[in-house]
Amino acid sequence: MAVRLTSLEVMRDAPVIPVIVLTEVAQAVPMARALVAGGIRMLEVTLRTPVALACIEAIAKEVPEAVAGAGTVRSAADAQAAQLAGARFAVSPGYTHAVGKACHDLGLPLLPGVATGSEIMMAQEDGYTALKFFPAMQAGGAAMLKAWGGPFGDVVFCPTGGVTAGNARELLALSNVLCVGGSWLTPADAVAQGDWARITALAREAVALR
Ligand code: 3PG
Repeated sequence: MAVRLTSLEVMRDAPVIPVIVLTEVAQAVPMARALVAGGIRMLEVTLRTPVALACIEAIAKEVPEAVAGAGTVRSAADAQAAQLAGARFAVSPGYTHAVGKACHDLGLPLLPGVATGSEIMMAQEDGYTALKFFPAMQAGGAAMLKAWGGPFGDVVFCPTGGVTAGNARELLALSNVLCVGGSWLTPADAVAQGDWARITALAREAVALR
């Protein structure tokens, strides 16, 4: 049985959590190995394609150096299915008490998505203080995170959404940002073409951001 992680451990492992969309199960293992080769182990596989759970299962079974997580978790059922497939953390695009409670009951670390003060307060009420800020760049970016640092000084964030190699450094420099999330490490064309060397290179560059 794999060691249970905390959300802080998930966030502190590397400067970037890749947000991954896979359309074929066969892509999962080589992609995970490519990211691990570049120094990125925490992998958020989004539950957006019919093969997502099978991809999580393949990574969990065949790439022990990686930690497969599930993204786009929107319900208690998503969280249960993700854990059953082998996901060791969950990321949600928003927050509901139902998702918060399900992950708590499952012992599945959750990075809940928030975009407003009220959502931060709701997540905090349920014990969550390590949050995903989504969609980060569209909803205020670094300026928003600085503003939240006042009233929510005890909360840390993983901004995701519109984050790129170009703006990640500015976000990572903020004291309330532990890591960022983004899809730029796994471009759709590189995944489709099986250009794993490019993904390893992107992962290496991401590790060097901090
Ligand atoms: C998502 O959920 O799609 C992520 O936030 C990724 O956003 P990005 O493609 O802008 O990195």
